[in-house]
Amino acid sequence: MSSLRQKSAPRWTAVFLLCAVLCCLFVPAVTVKHENFKKCDQSGFCKRNRQFADDVSASSSWTAPYALDPTSITFEKGQLNGVVLKILKEGEEKARLPLTVTFLDSGVARVTLDEEKRAKGEIDLRHDSKARKERYNEAGKWALVGGLKVFEGAALNAEAEQGYTKVVYGKGGKHQAVIRHAPFGIEFQRDGETQVKFNERGFLNVEHWRAKVEKVEEEKKEGEEEKVEDEKKEDATGEDESTWWEESFGGNTDSKPRGPEAVALDISFPGYEHVFGIPEHATRLSLKTTKGGDNAYDEPYRLYNADVFEYEMDSPMTLYGAIPFMQAHRKGSTVGVFWLNAAETWIDITKKKNTANPLALGVKGHTDTQTHWMSESGLLDIFVFLGPTPQDLTRQYGELTGFTAMPQSFAIAYHQCRWNYVTDDDVKDVDRRFDKFNIPYDVIWLDIEYTQEKKYFTWDPLTFVNPETMQKQLAKRDRKLVPIIDPHIKNTDNYPVIDELKKKDLAVKNKDGNQYEGWCWPGSSMWVDCFNPAAIDWWKGLFKYDKFKGSAPNTFIWNDMNEPSVFNGPETTMPKDNLHHGNWEHRDVHNINGMTFHNATYQALTERKKGELRRPFVLTRAFYSGSQRSAAMWTGDNQAEWAHLEASLPMVLNQGISGFPFSGADVGGFFGNPSKELLTRWYQAGIYYPFFRGHAHIDTRRREPYIPGSPYTEIITQALRLRYQLLPAWYTAFHEASTTGAPIIRPNFYIHPEDDNGFAIDDQLYIGSTGLLAKPVTKEGADSVSVYIADDQPYYDYFDYTSYRGAGHHTVPAPLEKIPLLMQGGHIIPRRDRPRRSSGLMKFDPFTLVVVLDKAGDAEGTLYLDDGETFDYQQGAFIHRQFSFDGARQVLSSANLDIGHRTVKCEKYLKTMEKVRVEKIIIVGAPKAWKNKEEVVVLEEGQKETRRKKSLPLEYHAAEGKKAAWAVVRDPGVWIGRGWRIDFGDKVAGHEHHGHEH
Ligand code: NOJ
Repeated sequence: MSSLRQKSAPRWTAVFLLCAVLCCLFVPAVTVKHENFKKCDQSGFCKRNRQFADDVSASSSWTAPYALDPTSITFEKGQLNGVVLKILKEGEEKARLPLTVTFLDSGVARVTLDEEKRAKGEIDLRHDSKARKERYNEAGKWALVGGLKVFEGAALNAEAEQGYTKVVYGKGGKHQAVIRHAPFGIEFQRDGETQVKFNERGFLNVEHWRAKVEKVEEEKKEGEEEKVEDEKKEDATGEDESTWWEESFGGNTDSKPRGPEAVALDISFPGYEHVFGIPEHATRLSLKTTKGGDNAYDEPYRLYNADVFEYEMDSPMTLYGAIPFMQAHRKGSTVGVFWLNAAETWIDITKKKNTANPLALGVKGHTDTQTHWMSESGLLDIFVFLGPTPQDLTRQYGELTGFTAMPQSFAIAYHQCRWNYVTDDDVKDVDRRFDKFNIPYDVIWLDIEYTQEKKYFTWDPLTFVNPETMQKQLAKRDRKLVPIIDPHIKNTDNYPVIDELKKKDLAVKNKDGNQYEGWCWPGSSMWVDCFNPAAIDWWKGLFKYDKFKGSAPNTFIWNDMNEPSVFNGPETTMPKDNLHHGNWEHRDVHNINGMTFHNATYQALTERKKGELRRPFVLTRAFYSGSQRSAAMWTGDNQAEWAHLEASLPMVLNQGISGFPFSGADVGGFFGNPSKELLTRWYQAGIYYPFFRGHAHIDTRRREPYIPGSPYTEIITQALRLRYQLLPAWYTAFHEASTTGAPIIRPNFYIHPEDDNGFAIDDQLYIGSTGLLAKPVTKEGADSVSVYIADDQPYYDYFDYTSYRGAGHHTVPAPLEKIPLLMQGGHIIPRRDRPRRSSGLMKFDPFTLVVVLDKAGDAEGTLYLDDGETFDYQQGAFIHRQFSFDGARQVLSSANLDIGHRTVKCEKYLKTMEKVRVEKIIIVGAPKAWKNKEEVVVLEEGQKETRRKKSLPLEYHAAEGKKAAWAVVRDPGVWIGRGWRIDFGDKVAGHEHHGHEH
């Protein structure tokens, strides 16, 4: 965020106006100011490590200076300990790097390398710094919540060759870590085949502590003889120390009290052509290489949470959040690494093609992906996942960092935002218009202007005179309000929040230990330091209803600018030598900072009132591994351009496989005014974002769905209705994410891991396990899309049942009013078909089940339901059903997936759902034999396990051209929460024939 976005800078107004006029004349492509953000060679440690890698690669005689001391190795209870020695000068000094390799129950291995001198505090800090001396070792405290149980069955392999230690681990002994002592390196094998290699290329680099040798240019004073000697020694090593001690960028100088302290390692994935993950970047799902060439970047991917104003497309530049989790995929295997480090990190990716050996018949050529990870400080702490499936990876990563929190049901419906709804009357008016146009929406948002002079926890007394009445109106249709609360606190008089922050000493400190002051929306500000437990406690208190006056039970919170964004800071963020609680430098914790803040807000929302136990909703812009436990995210300040719409799909898909699936992009594009076509297409795509919100910059024209007029408003309304109709399927997908770590929207490779033609596909998506396959239109003027089908199941158009069959690309019509959406055969999709004005009003609506038969005539699907609001589901208050259509027996049934005990809470919940029925069953690809079928028999399990039986007519629609046959059973009236079966096999004329018509 640059100061250009600040409204309150009158002296800039004239310049700004002039620029605006010029902008209109030339219509320039708005783009990021590259000069505000570092390139790798402007970030000392990145430059050093990239250079080091190049030197190592270029040298034929070089040997890596790291060796695991064999005499130091101990192995006990699933954990190997030892010391890696870094040879500093041949035969002389060595830096001792304690190594731990832990083998976990899940089959994951964790490798940690520390530095003894720093760990023991045996170093000197420069500039009298108060910073901690250790390498930052608390990233796990914030990121990890489980999955750390050690696998005691791990065992040393007695047959290891000289110079190696081998550990067999993983259930069934399928995994093996082959640790090479010198030079130190590890290969991780599954079933005897190497999947992941550490330090294959010798780029391991732990910058050990060293004292700065001051240069003495003037006359020597007494006692300085020694220093000069030392200086010569340093020079003798030939290392370039120009970026070791101080670094300046954009007018800021980083004092670097601990000198150079980077950690870096090369990690290779032999035989893996694709790598995914490491969000957040505006890039494709299958990550490009970074060292130049065709269709490649020439900068590494960067992870350094930053407010990047007008970010560009197709770029490895850093964005607002960081998840250092990478997966490598090839046919039949997915493996990965999680680099647990919160400091600035860069990742180079290269690919090595190994051509087929013409002499070895059957040995195919393959590609290795090689990566090089570099972090500015902290530990080397890496988790290695050996798959073999993409589902294994998302589950194991989720076990470590937590699964997505189950949201309230309103949170997955549509959110209406803009910067800004300007008064409480404006909000009420927007609310009324949605109703007038019969457009569903659940949440309206307030951006920073609702506050009194950007003082959070206040309302502007002139414009938001009566927040209570405003919220009462929203509550009538069970709608919610989400105001923004940012981490910067206005540094001003007569503002109790800043007074308390200062008095209680809970703000982030500068390098001298004084409360840090910088600039953000309110002008001079201070930042609450949520690394401090006392700050979290205080923050929680601010949200109590009697403190945040005007907030209500249907108020939830948006946390923005938490990278943190500091307008006058280096790279628009905090100086790295700032200090957090425990005297950790900001450098060490930067990427975690935003998460500590939204975690605190989440906790605050759970404690607003005693006894009010409802699931919070918090949206965050900055994030790290673990953010999924307490927030949703969005992709920040995109632009109203087709390219941004297109980029949002791989970005959101990538969030999903990286463990943070509750994500979305600003619908319509934040900056600029979308054409009506773009806006419409964006809504048609946005209905597939797990987090679905329209948002716009303060300078844009209004664009609520009712604004564009006919036919756009109707088409957008249809799209919104489709989202609302499928909310039961979305909610079920969220439940799956919250219990297994599976993404909510899924890329092709995740569903079809064997289909190597589809690994790079990132412009179409599957919704949960529903088999719904969507391909949003992202091109102007398009009237069709090409949908890639990976398997030989039948696929049907969602709306008219046109069938598509056969692996490969299919053209699906997509005029403006048409949303390309297919249903893969083999699924049962739960829907609610009655259009309503908010999801809350659908709570007790009946269900429709769409049974989409596969090529064998079978189908399966699940439905998860709960009160959508409280935590009672954790005590069994939910409905979880498995629907199956057995093609051989011609029976559709509903079975209970809740294997737990029927708790009191569960019975109570079931009672509230007693009247909720299935009102319609649609069978797509219905057997021909049903043509003459008149009725089906419904058998229902009663509350007292008695069975009722009734016959119902079956409505059959024969296939027509490409459109498949379908059948309908209306109003079977079976309970959604209980068991039942519907027999399609009885009373069938000619029922010996069960062929399908597609
Ligand atoms: C930056 C956010 O990314 C944007 O969504 C918001 O509207 C502005 N800050 C103002 O709060």
